[in-house]
Amino acid sequence: MRDDASSPNDAGGLPADTFDAAFRDRLAALVRLRRDVRRFRPDPVPEHILLEALNLAHMAPSVGLSQPWRFVLVEDAARRKAAAASFRRANAAALAATAPQDRRLYARLKLEGIRDAPVQMAVFCDDTTTTGRKLGARTMPETRAYSTVCAIHTLWLALRAHGVGMGWVSILEPEEICRICEAPAGWRFIAWLCIGWPQETRSDTPELERAGWEKRLPLSALVRRI
Ligand SMILES: Cc1cc2nc3c(=O)[nH]c(=O)nc-3n(C[C@H](O)[C@H](O)[C@H](O)COP(=O)(O)O)c2cc1C
Repeated sequence: MRDDASSPNDAGGLPADTFDAAFRDRLAALVRLRRDVRRFRPDPVPEHILLEALNLAHMAPSVGLSQPWRFVLVEDAARRKAAAASFRRANAAALAATAPQDRRLYARLKLEGIRDAPVQMAVFCDDTTTTGRKLGARTMPETRAYSTVCAIHTLWLALRAHGVGMGWVSILEPEEICRICEAPAGWRFIAWLCIGWPQETRSDTPELERAGWEKRLPLSALVRRI
């Protein structure tokens, strides 16, 4: 696997206009159009796109520079099948726990692409890592998991910049996913990611909003000054 980990050190020589207004507009478009994707075409994702996106994910911030993210590409059909079965069990339990008035809508939602997406990736956080020598994580060890999520979001955007879609699946049994992936002790399951070319046309509205499940809140409701 190609390793671009040294490239950020070369960034000092960037021309002042590298991040100009046109770039910012395109970055905003990327963020607005990212979307969680659950419906995929079967055609493969070129390896160089996946590796480029993983290299960018590996540039994410991490507590103490601990880089606790661990990416497991799940290629084995039996393991994928076992993950899909875990989703079915977890989703059945989630449906049963959903308020009765919401169950019909919940049951209609598509909440994973485990059987369809050509790339399936489990992401773990290595809570036992000595990289970073615990800097910043002594009072808040959960910051390692937050760091892993930063990497996942970077991956999401990097893939989308190529037109590749990604869907995050959390309706799973974490212990079963650790077993399926042969995760070493101390690895915490963070995300199951379905990656591939999206079937749907681009939308700036989340699918759950289009389905009537939830709406985006106004930013003003989430920001306060004290
Ligand atoms: C931590 C996390 C877990 C998620 N788990 C699921 C999931 O299990 N199934 C699903 O369909 N979407 C899942 N999503 C996607 C969200 O539903 C989605 O991000 C949200 O509805 C907003 O839509 P957007 O990503 O298209 O903007 C998850 C997203 C995050 C950040």
